[in-house]
Amino acid sequence: MKRTVEVAVVVALVLFLVTPSTAQHKYVGVTMCSACHKTEKQGKQFDIWKSSKHASAFKTLETPKAEEIAKAKGLKVKASEAPECLTCHVTGYGVDKALTAAVKVQDGVQCESCHGAGSDYKSIPVMKDKAKAVAAGLTIAKDDPKLCTKCHNSESPTYKEFKYKEAWEKINHPVPLATK
Ligand code: HEC
Ligand code: HEC
Ligand code: HEC
Ligand code: HEC
Repeated sequence: MKRTVEVAVVVALVLFLVTPSTAQHKYVGVTMCSACHKTEKQGKQFDIWKSSKHASAFKTLETPKAEEIAKAKGLKVKASEAPECLTCHVTGYGVDKALTAAVKVQDGVQCESCHGAGSDYKSIPVMKDKAKAVAAGLTIAKDDPKLCTKCHNSESPTYKEFKYKEAWEKINHPVPLATK
């Protein structure tokens, strides 16, 4: 019995030590990011995202087509309420609610789905220093299709073959060279 308790304590301690602190960054929502990523000079990342399908990913779940898919799958709730759909159609689904309070589901797949929760990297001094930003939770996955295929895969009921280069060109949102 005593042995079991000792093992449990060690296991708990190890889990505590290896759990990355990144789990604690809070989501801030796309409106926050848009404050500094909106102008021509900055590269209009907000506008580019807003006109992409990612911005309407949640609204898509409220369409008749989504409802049809959900029914065919035998889901008991609406597509826009089903974990089986929300997991890929909104930001930070399944993450501790205390960390996602600022996320609006209506914003669908926003910046932080790809760049990580922003509470600790969003300030100017951190943002301007790439190493600091990455240490504070920013993800910049250059040319890494795995970032996309966690959602663009055959688990999607409407899956279309995912071609990274073509898909990236549709959502590319660079900082202009003159600004860098
Ligand atoms: C207070 C202003 C501000 C806010 C808020 C902000 N950023 Fe930034 N961000 C910057 C600045 C300044 C840079 C440096 C590059 C530049 O001049 O555009 C930057 C750079 C970046 C980069 C490129 C990093 C690199 O070095 O390659 C990414 C990605 C990024 N921001 C994402 C985000 C996301 C996502 C959010 C919201 C969670 C956000 N930013 C919020 C100001 C901000
Ligand atoms: C969190 C899940 C998620 C991630 C991560 C994600 N996507 Fe998407 N993506 C979606 C969803 C959901 C849609 C469909 C939205 C709709 O139609 O309402 C979509 C749609 C798209 C579309 C429009 C559909 C089309 O074929 O024209 C493109 C382009 C796209 N994503 C590119 C990418 C790229 C490139 C990446 C990686 C850099 C990526 N996505 C990462 C969930 C995601
Ligand atoms: C594994 C991630 C994932 C899951 C789970 C998921 N989707 Fe999607 N959904 C996507 C992606 C990515 C797209 C973009 C098209 C594609 O490649 O499938 C998309 C597109 C769509 C579209 C637009 C398709 C079109 O051609 O107009 C609808 C509607 C949709 N999803 C409904 C649903 C419903 C309903 C559920 C739950 C039963 C669901 N999705 C679950 C990732 C997902
Ligand atoms: C579907 C995933 C995805 C979404 C959504 C997304 N980004 Fe990005 N973003 C990326 C990837 C991947 C890169 C790195 C691309 C590269 O340099 O090859 C990037 C690069 C950037 C850069 C640096 C560009 C450069 O030229 O150095 C900034 C700034 C940025 N994103 C801001 C944002 C903001 C702000 C939003 C929301 C309004 C956003 N991103 C939404 C995937 C995404």
